[in-house]
Amino acid sequence: MQELLSAEEIERGVARMAGEIQRGYAGRSLTLVGVLTGSIVFLADLIRKLDLPVRVALVQARSYRGGATRPGRLVVHPDFTPDVAGRDILLVDDIFDTGQTLAHLLDMLDELGPTSIHSAVLLRKSGRAKVACTPDYVGFEIPDRFVVGYGLDYHDLYRHLPYLAALEEHELTELHPTTGRVS
Ligand code: IMP
Ligand code: MG
Repeated sequence: MQELLSAEEIERGVARMAGEIQRGYAGRSLTLVGVLTGSIVFLADLIRKLDLPVRVALVQARSYRGGATRPGRLVVHPDFTPDVAGRDILLVDDIFDTGQTLAHLLDMLDELGPTSIHSAVLLRKSGRAKVACTPDYVGFEIPDRFVVGYGLDYHDLYRHLPYLAALEEHELTELHPTTGRVS
């Protein structure tokens, strides 16, 4: 694995984003809607840096089936329907890759009648977007590599790493899906 962003770099990026968000929503209250599961670490750090009246909600969406590193069909869990009507909503996700997850969730939440809706992602992968929308707040632009850590997973592993690392091509195929060991 190759470290792309250290814990300290991430912390500075999240603090900068929190400052931008706070200026954007000055004098208002904000509902952050995190996308499970990849956004949890970012969301937890971001909300603690916001000096605003904040509500937190979650949606569950999965575009990655099993361990595949390329997106499949997006599935939104019906039990996670956040209270968004009449509220200022900020959708929070770990990474903007093709953008299909974010675009789909923004449309879905917009139908629930928020006062406003914007989006924030920690990472945006270069040259991968397949949708017209772009996130309003972006922490870091990264190259088109498969990354793990700080909430992002491979086969549900590595979410706990405090830094962000890129997996090498051979690590993407050789790691055992449940033990995480090279087989
Ligand atoms: P999109 O719909 O193609 O933008 O994909 C967004 C989702 O795919 C994110 O919420 C992540 O869960 C996942 N994803 C995309 N790229 C990576 C990656 O490099 N590592 C881990 N997960 C990723
Ligand atoms: Mg995700």
